[in-house]
Amino acid sequence: MDIAPLLSKRSLAVEISGIRRVFELARSVQDPINLSIGQPHFDVPAPIREAMKQAIDTHKNAYTVTQGIAELRERLMRDIRAKYDHPDRDILVTSGTSGALMLAILATVNPGDEVVGADPYFVMYPNMVTLAGGTFVGVDTYPTFEIDAEKFIAACTPRTKLLLLCSPANPTGAVVSTEAMRTLAEFCAKRGILLVSDEIYRAFHYDGPARCPAEFDEHVLVIEGFGKTYGITGWRMGYAHGPRRLIDEMMKLQQSTFICAPSVAQWGALAACDFDVTGFVADYRRKRNLLVEALRGKYEFSTPGGAFYLFAQAPWGTATEFVTQAVQHKLLMIPGGTFSTRDTHFRISYAAADETLHRGIDVLLGMA
Ligand SMILES: Cc1ncc(COP(=O)(O)O)c(C=O)c1O
Repeated sequence: MDIAPLLSKRSLAVEISGIRRVFELARSVQDPINLSIGQPHFDVPAPIREAMKQAIDTHKNAYTVTQGIAELRERLMRDIRAKYDHPDRDILVTSGTSGALMLAILATVNPGDEVVGADPYFVMYPNMVTLAGGTFVGVDTYPTFEIDAEKFIAACTPRTKLLLLCSPANPTGAVVSTEAMRTLAEFCAKRGILLVSDEIYRAFHYDGPARCPAEFDEHVLVIEGFGKTYGITGWRMGYAHGPRRLIDEMMKLQQSTFICAPSVAQWGALAACDFDVTGFVADYRRKRNLLVEALRGKYEFSTPGGAFYLFAQAPWGTATEFVTQAVQHKLLMIPGGTFSTRDTHFRISYAAADETLHRGIDVLLGMA
């Protein structure tokens, strides 16, 4: 039987990530200089690993309640309540940050609805919106990648259901200004648009404290994750907090699809809540500075304020041509076309050992 005619339009509309293509290419390179990875390079801290192992050994291996174990929810809500005076704010523990994003989109986006977000964007955003039958409307943020609130407001139409912010951002490392957060939170509340704030890189702010649009409006849905902060991307742990009615709806959808976040990973995440990552963040700040200093004047880029990415302009050709040439020198990066309607820039991840970073810088300087 031919399977192709069975495939849904929805599925066929989703494009395979360019990141996977680089991973495929990487397999053919001996001793690659890998600056393509979207996750921390440090070891998972021992207390977090131990908590997960203990959960397995003490038989916490069954389904949990859909909303997540009470111990983890209460621990997270303690911090959330300390930050926001929002009596209606509730929490849902999800299978990864992507799980929370997908549930939020499925719970709100009808076919024909629009979702406004920055271009460049995290690869999954347009695909998730497509799966829900909506249209992703990208707002061009080149060349600084700063969020201009007025441009976002101008992109909203009567069909706009969601406005998606990501700060610090993947792939640019750009941090949304507090003023833009305030303007957009107030605009969305007035216009009846849900503001979703993807804060998976929240721990990685280098030039100031992390701010959040929920500081300015109680309806904002905040999505956070454990994967990047503690180097546990494979454990699939995220959570969302926002208005109770929305969280209830997302919970219903999680119950009807993936049931719950992995049980033992929830116990690991609980231990993670008490682990201080200041040292990791300081190390990534140092790596950010090292890369910025080395490439300054040689490449066009905007200094990233967070996450662990730098998004630079290809000095010649398309980004794909430039990145393909870099592979000849064993250097792996991601071409910007993966994250954008433009293929002019490339993403360097500095979540790597210093030695790898120095080798990568040497290749980049030779190619400038
Ligand atoms: C901006 C952003 N949001 C969400 C995710 C997905 O995170 P998770 O692995 O927790 O599903 C990623 C992963 O790279 C990301 O960069």
